[in-house]
Amino acid sequence: MCGIVGYIGKRPVLPVLLGGLEKLEYRGYDSAGVSEIVNAQFEVMRAEGKLAKLKNLLSENGKLAAGENKSAEGVNIGIGHTRWATHGRPSETNAHPHLAGKVCLVHNGIIENYVELKAQLTATKCVFKSETDSEIAAHLINSHIEQGLGLFAATKTACSEMQGSYALVVMSLSEPDKLVVAKNATPVIVGITPDESFIASDIPAILEYTRDFYVLEDGDFAEISRGAIKIEHEGVAAERKPITIAWDPITAEKGGFEHFMLKEIHEQPRVVMETLRGRLDQEHSNVHFDDVFFSDDDFAKIERIVIVACGTAWHAALTTKFYIEKFARMPVDVDYASEFRYRNPLLNDKTLFIAISQSGETADTLGALQIAIEKGAKTLAICNVVGSTIARRAGNIINTQAGPEISVASTKAFVTQLVAGYLLALKLALVRNTLSADELANYIDQVVHLPKWLTAALGQEDKIKDLAQEFSKSFNFLYLARGLLYPIALEGALKLKEISYIHAEGYPAGEMKHGPIALITEETPVVVVLGHDDGNYEKAMSNLTEAVARKAKIIAVTDLENAHLSKLAHRVIAVGDIPSQMLPIVLVIPLQLLAYYTAICRETDVDQPRNLAKSVTVE
Ligand code: G6P
Repeated sequence: MCGIVGYIGKRPVLPVLLGGLEKLEYRGYDSAGVSEIVNAQFEVMRAEGKLAKLKNLLSENGKLAAGENKSAEGVNIGIGHTRWATHGRPSETNAHPHLAGKVCLVHNGIIENYVELKAQLTATKCVFKSETDSEIAAHLINSHIEQGLGLFAATKTACSEMQGSYALVVMSLSEPDKLVVAKNATPVIVGITPDESFIASDIPAILEYTRDFYVLEDGDFAEISRGAIKIEHEGVAAERKPITIAWDPITAEKGGFEHFMLKEIHEQPRVVMETLRGRLDQEHSNVHFDDVFFSDDDFAKIERIVIVACGTAWHAALTTKFYIEKFARMPVDVDYASEFRYRNPLLNDKTLFIAISQSGETADTLGALQIAIEKGAKTLAICNVVGSTIARRAGNIINTQAGPEISVASTKAFVTQLVAGYLLALKLALVRNTLSADELANYIDQVVHLPKWLTAALGQEDKIKDLAQEFSKSFNFLYLARGLLYPIALEGALKLKEISYIHAEGYPAGEMKHGPIALITEETPVVVVLGHDDGNYEKAMSNLTEAVARKAKIIAVTDLENAHLSKLAHRVIAVGDIPSQMLPIVLVIPLQLLAYYTAICRETDVDQPRNLAKSVTVE
């Protein structure tokens, strides 16, 4: 879950590396480091803490002004890393790049047999400076170079001895105009322009230089020189075409907002429009997905659906289950990927397996998808990154079109996942004939209006800011909802705890009396999410009343306010008259804003909350 970058070209190396790392910091931010070859030596600089510390260090040492460092005629070369600690605490010594003799490398992943390898290397007098598994890779490669292998062959040999996951970028003093990349179960992309080469964990890091990327596959080794790439897979040269990304580099910038999270919250009406674009045929009441290759007949043969995801995407999975059950009347199981993959799940060719993932790289979701493929299920990814491993491996993809999401706490990607789930449920209903023509036309019409309702929900921002101010010193929040809104209560609670560090629990409102009610005091804000016409209103109101009876302060997040609700609730956030199917997608916005402004009041690091990472490529 770290971020890695590499560069070969004519520019000064450090600004390219630092610019890239800045855009990858969401992947980990407990320490960072860079290395370049200067006068035939590695010049390494590392710092504990966020990237800003490293930048200060480099600037204090006059490294950012220089810019004339060439390792060979016309070739500037360097690698950089931003870390999310797995083996070894965050510290300067454990930060990457790691050095061993003629080798310097950065690593993202986990080397599982590192204890055994370390023992072997120690026996040959290797001295380790860090507590990391990654340093083993540097020593292994260096030992093979000392035995006479070139950098490429040495890296391949070392990888054959290592078990686990890795994206490695390796630099060597013996071949100072090359970088070698190895990939297994951890993402890495390469951008090549006529006279430069860029390597990164993710697209936004190098988007300002190119929009064409080689997405490396597991088992690939790439030898990268200035403006050129050679890929080898299983010992054979592999011909790969680059993919072209339409994202505008500006969409990966803050655009005047204080944080990426706030910018991404505000982008939601627009990205939902993107998610809908070209997929709805209102005239014939139909739904199209360009990259889903199942025929209507294939769809009709599906007997059961399994949706697997992690984190926020799991909440989208739960909402999608509710949509599919409601519209298409099919049985749907939802599971955490980390649970699903280790219990020999029941799947067959009549099962549709759906993986939901913003990044398309989450290790557990990928592991679960692999099992589904092996068991012969039909597979589909709802994913935000077209060239990601999950998207490619699933074969069928509904791309969520949210654009790059930088803030660690997911907002716009989540909302577009809900829209994708809704559209898929309509498609299934269509082929299975479970909705009348009028119902179908009506549900399609509703989603077309969604962007304007999302904009209306954003209109509550000032009111929510006040609310956040009032409750920002609370110790516990409870989020309650029923039915289709229940996953949204879970998501609201997750968002709050992720970025404000306030303990928050999401619960089905009807379950409150079986436990969480014991936590309620007059100090407890209880956020109740409810819709006046969703079939659960009366029941949700009863649960709300039970909380009021225990002196809870109710924050009601709803579509329409009424006198009864205003009397019981301490505050009401009402977004206007919106069809109940659309409410999960709309009512999550006030909850995102509540989390955001609470975090602002508590002065936390909103875009990069402690201990978290956006893309979790380890188990
Ligand atoms: C991390 C992120 C979450 C995200 C989850 C799943 O925990 O912090 O925001 O929901 O991973 O990520 P994915 O990319 O698979 O949606």
